[in-house]
Amino acid sequence: MYKSVNSGIDININKEDFTLAFKKISLSELSFNPFEKIGKEWLLLTGGNAENFNTMTASWGQLGVLWNKSVLTCYIRPNRYTYEFIDNGEYFTASFFGEQYRNALAFCGSHSGRDCDKVKETGLTPVETDGCMTFEEAELVLVCRKLYKYDMQESGFTTDDGIPEQFFSKDPYHRAYISEITAVYVKE
Ligand SMILES: Cc1cc2nc3c(=O)[nH]c(=O)nc-3n(C[C@H](O)[C@H](O)[C@H](O)COP(=O)(O)O)c2cc1C
Repeated sequence: MYKSVNSGIDININKEDFTLAFKKISLSELSFNPFEKIGKEWLLLTGGNAENFNTMTASWGQLGVLWNKSVLTCYIRPNRYTYEFIDNGEYFTASFFGEQYRNALAFCGSHSGRDCDKVKETGLTPVETDGCMTFEEAELVLVCRKLYKYDMQESGFTTDDGIPEQFFSKDPYHRAYISEITAVYVKE
């Protein structure tokens, strides 16, 4: 049982729920277009544990190989509440959903967990796996272990395409997290 930090309501989090709903697969069994999956379908980045966690929507990131490891790289601005959880933890999850959850992801991408309870507002069901949190409604879950982080900065840009003006005039620069994908789960 977990007491939602913002609303104070009790929410059931049962590890067995995850095992029943998902099966573990290998990365080589994945087949999707990463540009569609990340950029168009979006995902939830969730940091923390059953005691306290937060989730936010992302549509930027990469899947690939670095240091002979299969990695996910994601980018989180430090003013996000989720940043506090992912920056402080060793593991987090990247969770992908079917189109029927578009409104839930839109909500998690336009409201802060500092001001509302995203679980209560979206109806998503938190479940625990590998010491991390994800949601029963996800169709694909990547468990990620942080390997390397760095802060993006204006001096790193190599063109004058106007990216800093477009993306960073109001909001702070992202912190990038290169993370090893340690487990992959799909909905049974
Ligand atoms: C489609 C979409 C994609 C987003 N991608 C990112 C992203 O990659 N990095 C980021 O820092 N914020 C991104 N955001 C914004 C956060 O999801 C948003 O600020 C959210 O409310 C943060 O919630 P939090 O304060 O509870 O962490 C995105 C929002 C949307 C709607």
